[in-house]
Amino acid sequence: MRLQYLEAMGIDVWIPKTSVITQQTSFPEGIADNILPKSTDNWETLQAEVVQCTQCDLCKTRTQSVFGSGNKNADWMIVGEAPGQNEDQQGLPFVGNAGLLLTEMLRATGLDREQVFITNIVKCRPPDNREPKSTEVDTCKAYLLRQQALIEPKIILALGHVAAQTLLNTDEPIATLRGKIHALNDTPVVVTYHPAYLLRSLLDKRKAWADLKFAMQIVKNHNK
Ligand code: URA
Repeated sequence: MRLQYLEAMGIDVWIPKTSVITQQTSFPEGIADNILPKSTDNWETLQAEVVQCTQCDLCKTRTQSVFGSGNKNADWMIVGEAPGQNEDQQGLPFVGNAGLLLTEMLRATGLDREQVFITNIVKCRPPDNREPKSTEVDTCKAYLLRQQALIEPKIILALGHVAAQTLLNTDEPIATLRGKIHALNDTPVVVTYHPAYLLRSLLDKRKAWADLKFAMQIVKNHNK
């Protein structure tokens, strides 16, 4: 049924041939001490910090911060760029049109949104949906790393160039980063297109489907 849905969208099933670990990302000395989680960290503390955060100027224009949603013991952690208008209003990630597409693509791989954990690089909406500034990304990244440390996912799926480049600490474009297993603190990272971009680019939906299949294979191998 789901496959039919994807076929109707023009999505084909294939697995990228390249599957090499290209990059292990960890954090520069000094910075790591500030942003890596403390052993006393817990979900409630982290969530409360994000809700009240005033560490960058995005807090002045947001309606509310968007911590993320889903399973805090998820195998899959899915990371987008930043909340948009709908997300800012509802306090939940990926609830607009891009979110609908993401939900369908996840379902096609047999995953419900409630099974995975979905979040963003920055937790507050940038005004007019502009890209987050590097200072905002740098400030907010610590929250994401603490989420990763608490969830301990088996895979991180980076949606779009902001998520991919931030997580992997690189300027490489999506085209170069796709189809490879990267790593962030020992968690495999797979890169794919942002669903908002896929809504405009029919051809690349096929490639995104391939990326999801690729990520599924990595999780399966991990479970063996
Ligand atoms: N785009 C994103 O990157 N994240 C959201 O939560 C919504 C749209």
